[in-house]
Amino acid sequence: MSGKQETNNSLVAAIREALRKVEAPELRGNLVSLKMVQAIEIENEIAHLHLLLPTPGYPYQEELTERCTRALQGVDGIQRVDLHFDDEVRRDPRVGDKLGLSVKHIFAVASGKGGVGKSTVAVNLAASLAEDGATVGLLDADIYGPNIPMMMGVEEMPPVEGGKLVPAQAHGVRFMSMGFLMPSDRALIWRGPMLHKAIQQLFTDVRWGDLDYLIIDLPPGTGDVQLSLAQTAPLSGGVIVTMPQNVSLADARRGGAAFIQLEVPIIGVIENMSGEIFGSGGGERAAQELDVAFLGRVELDSNVRVGGDAGRPIVLSHPTSAAARSLRQLARLIALRLNTHVADPRPQLKIV
Ligand SMILES: Nc1ncnc2c1ncn2[C@@H]1O[C@H](COP(=O)(O)OP(=O)(O)O)[C@@H](O)[C@H]1O
Ligand SMILES: [Mg+2]
Repeated sequence: MSGKQETNNSLVAAIREALRKVEAPELRGNLVSLKMVQAIEIENEIAHLHLLLPTPGYPYQEELTERCTRALQGVDGIQRVDLHFDDEVRRDPRVGDKLGLSVKHIFAVASGKGGVGKSTVAVNLAASLAEDGATVGLLDADIYGPNIPMMMGVEEMPPVEGGKLVPAQAHGVRFMSMGFLMPSDRALIWRGPMLHKAIQQLFTDVRWGDLDYLIIDLPPGTGDVQLSLAQTAPLSGGVIVTMPQNVSLADARRGGAAFIQLEVPIIGVIENMSGEIFGSGGGERAAQELDVAFLGRVELDSNVRVGGDAGRPIVLSHPTSAAARSLRQLARLIALRLNTHVADPRPQLKIV
């Protein structure tokens, strides 16, 4: 081994040691323990660090660059640090292969009652993650008001190929809806075994392909859909959508109850339609009541509704609006929480 090579090897070791002291923002651990350091190359006193991010759209690349530069300042023989990023969503071991699906994370969006913007949030989270480069599926399991097809702008029943349904596709997201499987006026007959069969079909008879994230839009509260899901699909976590005003303990509990029924960790609470008209604070209160994280708020903005009605999510139609920014940030935050298993523990509440 040449002398230069040896110097290089010990330099690489010194750099690795220094990177053990660099915490990755929003992730629990340092770059080495999180297995984010893929390669270290040294060239003319420049350290090239190849880092593997846990999800596309990781929002702290600049902060990481600063932290690494600071950490390597004390390393002799290094003048500059260059970061190179790649990303790979890691499969949640809880999701497993039970369904024969190739999905890394499944998470659900729930609410205590209807009309709070649950579907709107689900659609925008899906479009944001897809825009960041993730492969995303969206499953509309709301038997009472399956309006994801309208919000995505594709309302035709998807084709069947080789005995399997091909998911509809819009805005880079593959999606399926209970609405495709049922006549619009027949929600009440979806009970018991038939409903269970339909829920299973949405997983097993749909050609989802490889997905980084599969998002499920749940019906409000608790019920048969949640029960069927609990028996069918292993979920990584769930988020609760609430409105700002007068969130009572009962409302918060109703929102959380779905996840207790599903036995999945609650990632946190999102407050939707925040602003002057409805005020704000209900989301934090709900999070406190449930003892879970408050993830953030989404502003009340008529463009959210207009976009939803026109089949174009606001993150795409008005990407610089406050609501779009909030939704994008929420999508990244949820992706991070899923990828680092920092979902808060499930609250020990009784279903009300
Ligand atoms: N942040 C928001 N600002 C303005 N309108 C919104 C917002 N979020 C949702 N809406 C509108 O509120 C209505 C209910 O939203 P929806 O997503 O269908 O609720 P849910 O799925 O909880 O029943 C829709 O017309 C939607 O466009
Ligand atoms: Mg809905």
